[in-house]
Amino acid sequence: MKMSLGKMIYEGKAKKVYQWTEDKNKVFLEFKDSLTAFNAQKKGSFENKGSINRDIAVLIFQYLKSKGIPSHFIERIEDRGMLVQQVEIIPFEVVVRNWLAGSTAKKLGIPEGKVLKKPLVEFYLKNDELADPFVSEDQMLMLELTTPSEITRLKELALQINQQLIQLFDQMNLTLVDFKVEFGKNHQGEILLADEITPDCCRLWDKTTQEKFDKDRFRRDLGSVKESYTEVLNRMKKIVGGQS
Ligand code: TMP
Ligand code: ASP
Repeated sequence: MKMSLGKMIYEGKAKKVYQWTEDKNKVFLEFKDSLTAFNAQKKGSFENKGSINRDIAVLIFQYLKSKGIPSHFIERIEDRGMLVQQVEIIPFEVVVRNWLAGSTAKKLGIPEGKVLKKPLVEFYLKNDELADPFVSEDQMLMLELTTPSEITRLKELALQINQQLIQLFDQMNLTLVDFKVEFGKNHQGEILLADEITPDCCRLWDKTTQEKFDKDRFRRDLGSVKESYTEVLNRMKKIVGGQS
């Protein structure tokens, strides 16, 4: 497998992307041990974070596939890798909120923990220099980076993912408070779930204790970051099975 690993083409905050020499429509993702917050103003890491997050992402992509949700995932590769379809990332982060927390709670002056009557979908422009600003649907169209039908599809997929993940995390005794996903288009123009879904980009609260099991432990200096990510993986393996 490693024979096909080509040049690194991109290094992000949590992953490196490499060419896959035997097939130009595939790329290899390597999950790093680093984690960042607040547009990388805060930096940290912990041992095995890359492989823990890779394992969580694999189990989630496999689970979503079984529920009919298309993603870029192809194959898990030792020791912290994942083979995926090469996609052109659609430059908007899609956030779905079931409970109000984080930036939207703060912006609207609402205490964290309000349950929403229906999931809220928000879009943020992917732009590090601008710290990923919130954008309205009209602003997305004004930027000419997407189309009305694509916006409809992104929302539809994000809400389907939400419904499936709520059920998965519920079986793990976790509330899916909110999460961020990214989508991309493969060479055939299909829109696929891309990037990753891990505790880096979700808020997960224990249903019994309300304890946080996600990146807020790092953002807010709550400690036990590694233990929390490991616990998410262990609970997930019990529900959806696991490869070690
Ligand atoms: P927010 O409340 O800070 O807007 O975050 C909403 C969700 O999106 C939360 O689960 C964390 C995730 N998220 C990311 O994955 N990347 C980001 O850059 C930001 C700001 C949030
Ligand atoms: N993902 C962003 C960063 O790495 C922000 C965050 O998650 O808080 O800086």
